[in-house]
Amino acid sequence: MQINASHHRVHEKQPYRTWYHFQPPQNWMNDPNGPMYYKGVYHFFYQYNPYAATFGRHMVWGHSVSYDLINWIHLNHALEPSESYDINGCYSGSITTLPGEKPIIMYTGSDTRKHQIQNLAMPKNLLDPFLREWVKHPQNPVMTPPSGVELDGFRDPTTAWQGSDGKWRVIIGAKNGDEGKALLYHSEDFVNWKLHYNPLYASDSTGMFECPDFFPVYISGTKNGVDTSVQNSSVKHVLKLSYQNKQQEYYLVGEYFPDQEKFIPDPDLGGSCMDLILDHGMFYAGKTFFEYGKNRRILWGWSKECDTTQDDVEKGWAGLQGIPRQVWLDKSGKWLMQWPIEEVEKLRDKHVSIMGEKLVGGSTLEVSGITASQVDVEVLFELPELESAEWLDQSEVDPLLLCSEEYASRSGIIGPFGLLALASEDQAEHTAIFFRIYRAPNRYVCFMCSDQSRSSLRQDLDKTPYGTIFDIDPNLKTISLRSLIDRSIIESFGEKGRICITSRVYPSLAIDKDAHLYVFNNGSQSVVISELNAWTMKKAEFDQE
Ligand code: FRU
Repeated sequence: MQINASHHRVHEKQPYRTWYHFQPPQNWMNDPNGPMYYKGVYHFFYQYNPYAATFGRHMVWGHSVSYDLINWIHLNHALEPSESYDINGCYSGSITTLPGEKPIIMYTGSDTRKHQIQNLAMPKNLLDPFLREWVKHPQNPVMTPPSGVELDGFRDPTTAWQGSDGKWRVIIGAKNGDEGKALLYHSEDFVNWKLHYNPLYASDSTGMFECPDFFPVYISGTKNGVDTSVQNSSVKHVLKLSYQNKQQEYYLVGEYFPDQEKFIPDPDLGGSCMDLILDHGMFYAGKTFFEYGKNRRILWGWSKECDTTQDDVEKGWAGLQGIPRQVWLDKSGKWLMQWPIEEVEKLRDKHVSIMGEKLVGGSTLEVSGITASQVDVEVLFELPELESAEWLDQSEVDPLLLCSEEYASRSGIIGPFGLLALASEDQAEHTAIFFRIYRAPNRYVCFMCSDQSRSSLRQDLDKTPYGTIFDIDPNLKTISLRSLIDRSIIESFGEKGRICITSRVYPSLAIDKDAHLYVFNNGSQSVVISELNAWTMKKAEFDQE
């Protein structure tokens, strides 16, 4: 009785639980694992601790299924520690669909000595539309740490791809001291694996590469995705790595040469943006899959809490997944574009719009008539002439520093302008998502920031602001911003999906009906809201089977 009572107390007031972002009913969740579309059903697996709202020693693969990637049915765990090769945890991994439409999981097990090794599991019954039960392979483990790799730094297999020689290839993330490695393995039968003598990619100072992801993208600028095994002149490849030391999602775009097993990143990253990062905020351990039906590649990523462990224990849960994003290569060939899957629009309910409204310097406009704690908002700003922008000496600019120093409330010339999300009525609490445009030698650049520093009156939260700087077309006339706001998460997409920033916030006033949404401009130059559309979002369904 006692336990039930306290359990009830923990769950009765949940201002931060989401309405439409994926989360299990309770407890800790981290990485997305093995997402797949199989015979009309989307499968989503995730790192899950069934015992607590904190990371634990016996991680399992949670499993949920969906017909639309938005409404979910939670099933029993797909994998639990049970054998000497995974007794200390079933860690992250991926699914590959073998010929004959046979999905197979490759995942990392932490064994009795906490060494990391790779294992396989197959559906028990391929006729079960939800593939509820998974059987571990009798020949597990199929890979153990090779020399030059730390015994607890060898994990997170990718979806495998097949070369023209018929052999399967898979990448395993690894480390040796500060060195990060994307190890490449070959196999004829998916069970016996041979380490290739060179890693597909390595770096000497990043630390562990967690959760690698390797996939082709069309170079033609189409949004269509392409199967992981495709290699021809119409594609480039993307190698995504989660840098454990930085807890950020870096990626490289380049050429993959299968005969030499080389991946050569393109030298020109395209302008001022120092590194390519999938999301500049709280978004980690991302993983993509290709969906044949709709011809698209979809990215999942974990959004970690920024409150305290004590808060997580009291809430009874920790961790969200971002709304799945379609990803494709920009027509410049230099960076990935990301956009929330179209299905999320099914949840759009009450709609308001603002057209052609001028925002003079120092003004704020409320977007009223919606429930501002759960909103999908898209806004297109019309810019003034860029020549008036202030100068920026970009040589030593750290965008994070500027996003905190150049706080949204200070005035500039072109910007800061953008949204104040999850704001209290007096705006004492708000998260500012904004742009600010500068002139740099021979070009114009834009800052995009998501600033949590005033997101809550509470002091004990991680409120580090996020941001980045990117080159813009000198003839740019408009700039767009979309934010998916959902009670404790704000996913923002700048410039139609070129820049993504996910924030986690825990307002103390701006909750439920007391949350507000504003548009603001603190630049001395006016900007025009060319068009703004905002929708209250309905609750997605999360059912327990
Ligand atoms: C990344 C990660 C993975 C590992 C998993 C364990 O967040 O550390 O490298 O497989 O989480 O839950």
